[in-house]
Amino acid sequence: KIIVLDYGSQYNQLITRRIRELGVYSELLSHRLTAEEIMAKGNVKGIILSGGPMSVYADGAFSIDDAVFELGIPVLGICYGMQLMTFKNGGVVARSDKREYGQQPLIIDKTGSPIFAGLEKEEMVLMSHSDRIEEIPEGFQVTAHGENSPVAAFENPEKRFYGFQFHPEVRASVHGTDMLRNFVFDICGASGSWTMADFIDIKIKEIRQLVGDGKVLLGLSGGVDSSVVGVLLQKAIGDQLTCIFVDHGLLRKNEAEQVMDTLGGKFGLNIIKVDAQDRFLDKLAGVSDPEKKRKIIGNEFVYVFDDEAQKIKDVDYLAQGTLYTDVIESGTETAQTIKSHHNVGGLPEDMTFSLIEPLNTLFKDEVRAVGTELGMPHDIVWRQPFPGPGLAIRIIGEVTPEKLEIVRESDAILREEIAKNGLEGDIWQYFTVLPGFKSVGVMGDERTYDYTIGIRAVTSIDGMTSEWARIPYDVLDVISKRIVNECSHINRVVLDITSKPPATIEWE
Ligand code: XMP
Repeated sequence: KIIVLDYGSQYNQLITRRIRELGVYSELLSHRLTAEEIMAKGNVKGIILSGGPMSVYADGAFSIDDAVFELGIPVLGICYGMQLMTFKNGGVVARSDKREYGQQPLIIDKTGSPIFAGLEKEEMVLMSHSDRIEEIPEGFQVTAHGENSPVAAFENPEKRFYGFQFHPEVRASVHGTDMLRNFVFDICGASGSWTMADFIDIKIKEIRQLVGDGKVLLGLSGGVDSSVVGVLLQKAIGDQLTCIFVDHGLLRKNEAEQVMDTLGGKFGLNIIKVDAQDRFLDKLAGVSDPEKKRKIIGNEFVYVFDDEAQKIKDVDYLAQGTLYTDVIESGTETAQTIKSHHNVGGLPEDMTFSLIEPLNTLFKDEVRAVGTELGMPHDIVWRQPFPGPGLAIRIIGEVTPEKLEIVRESDAILREEIAKNGLEGDIWQYFTVLPGFKSVGVMGDERTYDYTIGIRAVTSIDGMTSEWARIPYDVLDVISKRIVNECSHINRVVLDITSKPPATIEWE
């Protein structure tokens, strides 16, 4: 495996991801680990020092155990990592307040360097640094330069130390992955046979070791992340895991049944299903303000979850489907003791337990790969994002059982037709909304006065921005006809053709 030491760059997880894509296991670890602790991870073929926002001379600058440079294994320093390598091996780093940022040509001076094998003399890379290297350490040589960086890359071939002032892990560094590949295979001699199945094995071992015979609680939402965590934990510790699944009555058609049948049935998870539909609908009665609706649902969710959690005695761990994108603080401890109220609202103040977040090093698509490897069905693994407040925020204004039924049925028709036409993979999120006003129509010989359904379908990478999806007219036509015919009290269907911004994806 290749260990990446974390110095706080926003790109640091991307390095581990690129290496995993090459078929080599890679893990981001705290820079505070000693050389001995790093090697105890087993089969460490190379170490990468990540970038970071600090200056190596700053007070409290993140450092490294000097012994890492005595291990005899290859080390690659990226940006801050390179500066740290310089500083620790006797070179000089110049402080600068000017930040150099952007895609720039890298001129490779030593084309014979193994780290640049197969590359052109000039390559585009992303530079992002303020300090620069003034004097390289003894035994090192400059291997590439940039417009404003006389030392953009260096190496000490004898010790197998390499440094890049740029970020090979980002796409703006066009052949950066090739450089990482050269490092990982040719310089470190990694084998490239790692797969997601190995990730699962490693995690199962880690979870067993951590949990022992303790008890773990998991809040299951039916979404990809918590479902994958559930199945993984079930494989690791079986019935020591208890899941709580709150059905707030705002789920899509058949969703609750599917969670119970698949996760509870096929995968044998121990799930407590809480039927809280009435509780939520009662609380929502008469409320039409979107923010109030969200708050009510959020709070009620915590109350219901806690009511159930209190009944389970002696919980030692709370599992969560946190992904790398959710990890705000840099740091990679797999479990960290927290006060319970930081997570699930109103659990007793004095109740502390540790968190288990087995997916917190992964990106969404990697989580999906884990789910697939665990044998989970396509429907769950490729589920589109679904908001916590559920269908309640797709009914504009007050939520009533009648309106819920309309939105649920129309959503099911839309989903069916999208699937039938093989469009699932092209559209990031698609659903129907009930704006709640009525308009005039005619059905047979009769005038109708009924509700309108809106179709919302968007393409997006991360939900932050989106474009409205171009669903073929023929498909839209079938969807429209089916919704009007099969859903009661609908006489009109419209399509939302706004992107985000200025609109949001959801209507509330
Ligand atoms: P908006 O409507 O803000 O939505 O463009 C962006 C993405 O976030 C989802 N979303 C939520 N997810 N709880 C969630 O877990 C929420 O309260 C919530 N509100 C919106 C939305 O479905 C879209 O994918």
